[in-house]
Amino acid sequence: MSIVSPTPKAIAAAAKVIQDGGVIVMPTETVYGLACNALDAKSVEKVYEIKGRPSENPLIVHIQSWEAVAQVAASWSADAELLAKKYWPGPLTLVLPKLSNVPDQTTAGLDTVAVRVPRHPVALDLIRAAGCPIAAPSANVFMGLSPTRAEDVTPEIEVEVDFILDGGPCEVGLESTVIDVSSGNPRILRPGLISRAEIQSLLGRPLGERPPGDLRRSPGIYPRHYAPKALLLLVETLPAGEAGLVFSEPQNSHQLRMPRDPQAYSALLYRYLRRLDDAKVGIIYVVTPPNDPSWEAVNDRLKKASHLA
Ligand code: TXA
Ligand code: MG
Repeated sequence: MSIVSPTPKAIAAAAKVIQDGGVIVMPTETVYGLACNALDAKSVEKVYEIKGRPSENPLIVHIQSWEAVAQVAASWSADAELLAKKYWPGPLTLVLPKLSNVPDQTTAGLDTVAVRVPRHPVALDLIRAAGCPIAAPSANVFMGLSPTRAEDVTPEIEVEVDFILDGGPCEVGLESTVIDVSSGNPRILRPGLISRAEIQSLLGRPLGERPPGDLRRSPGIYPRHYAPKALLLLVETLPAGEAGLVFSEPQNSHQLRMPRDPQAYSALLYRYLRRLDDAKVGIIYVVTPPNDPSWEAVNDRLKKASHLA
């Protein structure tokens, strides 16, 4: 299927596909998602199949507003409500106790569900038009780079979906911050644009730590993830003549200059790694960003991308 412009007609048609149990690609402000009806087990199974994702990895459920949380969550804490009211719509995912109408397939058998209200207008229009919560993992094959532009959705995914709605380049470029607020002290399962410091300051206390060996509860914490096809190596400076991401003046056409601001860097990261993959460079050298809390999400993704499987 080809890429379509998100006209009201295209959004209505995509919503119909979702209502009929199909799968489409939708834009969000973070990355593009492989979208289906979150409450329909068969649709969700198709998404796992298309992604080649192990069924033990739960999906994120996208809803249209804070009020809609009651469609999928059994309860929410005061912390959850505070976070949602501050950051929704936006790149924040909350893990909450689930309602029984959410199929096990969506949550990989967990008794919690990950929920967010995206702020991309096309995603919001689509959720409204479909009239159901939409499950959407990033629209890439398992472990690969998340697409941040419609044209970055790879052919393996493209052939399997009825629509790729083109919402333009994603503003954020990295997946949402995931916070477990289902029990105990809230903890970050996946860092993102909304930083640990911001969340701690809103809640007025430090976030809890993720227990070691808690892999199953959050697939984004597999050691290798978000990776290009090329080997990615983090370095202080690029070896002469090699390809990669730099902060200073590029020395050849396979060296891409990155912004020194973490948000601007995030918005370009996956697109540039993909460009170097397309150029079939064998190794992508990446000049290590500052070891500063504002770079936590970028450094998390780079570390996972550089981990050898
Ligand atoms: O920005 C995003 O979050 C994008 C867009 C499309 O919304 N979606 C995305 O989905 O990144 P995915 O499937 O690639 O990543 C799902 C993440 C996992 O890494 C995991 O941390 C978390 O969601 N997750 C989902 N359900 C969970 C649950 N019940 N408990 C803990 N973590 C969960
Ligand atoms: Mg993903």
